[in-house]
Amino acid sequence: MTSHADFDEMDESGLDKDRIANVIPMFEQPVEQADSAADDLVANGESKVIEDEKTNAVFSRLAALPQVEYDRVRKHEAKALGIRSVTLDAEVDARRVVKADTEFASAIEDADMDDAVQASIDGVGTGFVVNNDGVFRLQPKLKGEGVDRVFVCAPLRVTALVRDKASDNWGKILEFADADGVPHQVTVPMAMLAGDGTELRKTLAQRGLGLAAGNRARDNLLAYVMSCKPTARGICVESTGWFEDVFVLPDRTIGTSRERILLQTEARCVYTRAGALDEWQQGVARLCVGNSRLTLALCIAFAGPLLYFAGQESGGINFFGPSSIGKTTILAAGSSVFGGPSFIQTWRATSNGLEGQCAMHTDTLLVLDEMGEVDPKEAGAISYMIGNGAGKTRSDRNGDARAKKTWRIMFMSSGEVGLAQHMGEGGKTVRAGQEVRLVDLPADAGMGCGVFEELHGFDSGATLSNAIKQATRTWYGAAGIAYIEAVAAQAETMPRHVKEAVSRFVKKYLPEGASGQAARVCARFGLIAAAGELATHVGITGWEAGTAHRAAAATFQAWLEHRGGAGNQERAAVFAKVRAYFETHGEARFTDVYAIDDRATINRVGFRHMTEGGQQFYVLPEAYKREVCAGIDSRAATKILIEAGWLMPDNEGKSQQKKSLPGMGETRVYVFSTRMWEEAPLE
Ligand SMILES: Nc1ncnc2c1ncn2[C@@H]1O[C@H](COP(=O)(O)OP(=O)(O)OP(=O)(O)O)[C@@H](O)[C@H]1O
Ligand SMILES: [Mg+2]
Repeated sequence: MTSHADFDEMDESGLDKDRIANVIPMFEQPVEQADSAADDLVANGESKVIEDEKTNAVFSRLAALPQVEYDRVRKHEAKALGIRSVTLDAEVDARRVVKADTEFASAIEDADMDDAVQASIDGVGTGFVVNNDGVFRLQPKLKGEGVDRVFVCAPLRVTALVRDKASDNWGKILEFADADGVPHQVTVPMAMLAGDGTELRKTLAQRGLGLAAGNRARDNLLAYVMSCKPTARGICVESTGWFEDVFVLPDRTIGTSRERILLQTEARCVYTRAGALDEWQQGVARLCVGNSRLTLALCIAFAGPLLYFAGQESGGINFFGPSSIGKTTILAAGSSVFGGPSFIQTWRATSNGLEGQCAMHTDTLLVLDEMGEVDPKEAGAISYMIGNGAGKTRSDRNGDARAKKTWRIMFMSSGEVGLAQHMGEGGKTVRAGQEVRLVDLPADAGMGCGVFEELHGFDSGATLSNAIKQATRTWYGAAGIAYIEAVAAQAETMPRHVKEAVSRFVKKYLPEGASGQAARVCARFGLIAAAGELATHVGITGWEAGTAHRAAAATFQAWLEHRGGAGNQERAAVFAKVRAYFETHGEARFTDVYAIDDRATINRVGFRHMTEGGQQFYVLPEAYKREVCAGIDSRAATKILIEAGWLMPDNEGKSQQKKSLPGMGETRVYVFSTRMWEEAPLE
């Protein structure tokens, strides 16, 4: 099969015109979707043009017939050729245009066209003209000499051929204005052009292109788009963010690139702008100074575009705390770096929708408000998915695997409780991996003013919160663009600077002997600090140098305190879980081994044994796995519990001991010592 890359090279170099003629129809000829023979040909990469001379002669003969006569015989002729009538229509139509080209060339030239418009359009297909009134197909008059102009659609230009980084997924860029004069740019995949034109028509109609009615018009539109061969090339990307040294946003590309780079998306653009940078600095950034959480939020936004240079994974901060202390205000401040109020999304989005959102926020910031709105299991899965940077592999309509959506984002969230507690309330245990991806940070700054430490002369937290929210509705988006422009200008030195700044932060603030999880979180705060300082340095924030760094250091400290130290979170989760289990069930569901009465223990999970040092618990193996270790990996938990001395192995080191139990005889059980009531060992 001739690859698209070959096609690209040949077309541009202009070397192999004959081969081009054979390859172009692969893209250009209308293909009947339901026509399985034709589908097979297309699937094999062959041109759908039927080479057979006899068949060709039939097509030419039919093309010469007056329309009425053709309509009378078309079904019969199609049947005789063993093809569908619509396929025959397309073949016959194509030959009519050729006829128009050759026999009526002079008539076309004389036709009443706006030559200036026509000439300015690159690569308009043979047999079509475009002017200010629209796109027209030229057809020989049914009676007499000359050509007819058949209206196809409002003015529509095919401006570039695009493909992805792997020279796959080719498409065409279509540009037009809707009835209000609003310009539209649509990237149409070639795959869509291989259909019967219905999908193309629907896509364009939805965006407001004026179209002629009827099936013939549909075919004409498809033939027009296929026949246009623009020389301009572009690269299509599926997510925002860095592509080589340029930064792609839905409405612009920042930095210079060899060719056009376009974002292929149907999602609405959330990167909106209002007001100038200095207005945003005065209205929003100024009020963040002295407020660690607000400053952090802005820095988190600035950190998004640096993930790429830092080589860090996606991750985020979840500001949690009671209602009406200013959590959504924090999110609004952070969002204002890139967009207006619609930049804030909700946790309630389905995970499918969320994958698209993540792709559209790659290298910037994803903001999700109100974690409480999704159920705990979902919250855990979402934070894991976002942090993982990739969606699920899905199948397309044919069952073929489609490329997974991927992303790299900073995200910011709010909730009344942290992720760990939210999941715990739903009977789920947060895994350390989830917690490292979405870091729970207490939103309350602990100064009696909710999230604030500095009221900037406002009489209460409430009025400051309202002022910030109002400001973020008035001025937004300018900072993000200016910041990305500055970063793009220094893209070459960025990786080194960013990595050095992060390691300086980690060296300074990560407690000695901290676990790997704490180190990862510290590196994230380090990146946030570096981003904020960079934004200040290039004149985006209007802050004094050091403001961002101090806020990141203070909030990292707050995270450490909330977490209870820099130890390993998996161990802490196991201890908490086990202790809570015995606190809840220790009395009711364990039978005392010395009990003299024979009262049944309802839902028994084991036995209690009072020793000199205190109460020991013998847990039956099934209950141990199903209940004590519910939601955690029981084998890993057993190892941790034995190391901590909470679980006592037998003399051979096996995790279960044989005990003689009333009514059960010799039975293997897990023996919990009294150590579990002592201080939990974190390291
Ligand atoms: N620090 C504060 N002190 C007192 N009141 C505040 C403070 N911050 C916000 N408020 C009040 O709470 C209202 C809601 O603010 P915001 O949406 O930021 O709070 P929230 O913490 O997200 O609340 P919720 O949990 O209900 O979503 C504000 O309009 C304001 O009246
Ligand atoms: Mg809120």
